Amino acid sequence: MKPILIVANLKSNKTKNEAEKWLEEMSRIKNLPNLSNKKIVVCPPFTLLDFFNSYILNHEIPIELGAQNISRLPEGAYTGEINGAQIREFAKYTIVGHSERRSGFGEDESIVEEKVKMSIDYNLIPILCVQNENNTIPNGVSIVVYEPVFAIGTGESDDPQNAEDIAKKIKTSAKVEQVLYGGSVTSGNVKGFTQKENLSGVLVGGASLEALEFIKIIENV
Ligand code: PGA
Repeated sequence: MKPILIVANLKSNKTKNEAEKWLEEMSRIKNLPNLSNKKIVVCPPFTLLDFFNSYILNHEIPIELGAQNISRLPEGAYTGEINGAQIREFAKYTIVGHSERRSGFGEDESIVEEKVKMSIDYNLIPILCVQNENNTIPNGVSIVVYEPVFAIGTGESDDPQNAEDIAKKIKTSAKVEQVLYGGSVTSGNVKGFTQKENLSGVLVGGASLEALEFIKIIENV
């Protein structure tokens, strides 16, 4: 069985109380069969990273953590930024290059590249989101997520065969270990993607907000 990576991107959602309920429900995954080839990475908002970290350690939930963003700058006088050293206290991964950051927060390819470098410098594993096979994949990236913009948050996922073809192109053009698919993934369509030869996981946004649906996704992979 190939290793499968399932990433939840909670985006700008959940208060601490809501997060606690979500984690309580998520603790059921401890009893799921066939978890051995599945790695689950959850990316909560920065404000909840510490809480998530303590909760999963105390309750022994098999989840790893990621941040949704990273400052392109080191520590210092950069109001409002969260740097790699601060993230590394709680998380192992960081999402870089999400289309919502590219389109809504002016992150161009050079900023994405700086953020990848910063992640690696701080010993974080970048999960690089690309919108098509032409986006730059900087050196040192081993996990890429193909996320077509039309599929994000729309309920209209890409065709699994198209995602597979793009994953193959990405793998031939860059030295990456895993290509995931993201965009309107649900418990109903996840298998169509993960059974493809060149796809080794999914990045889930909206459908991860309900723990029970996210657990179904993990089961159905
Ligand atoms: P979605 O989001 O699952 O809600 O489409 C995916 C993403 O933005 O990464």
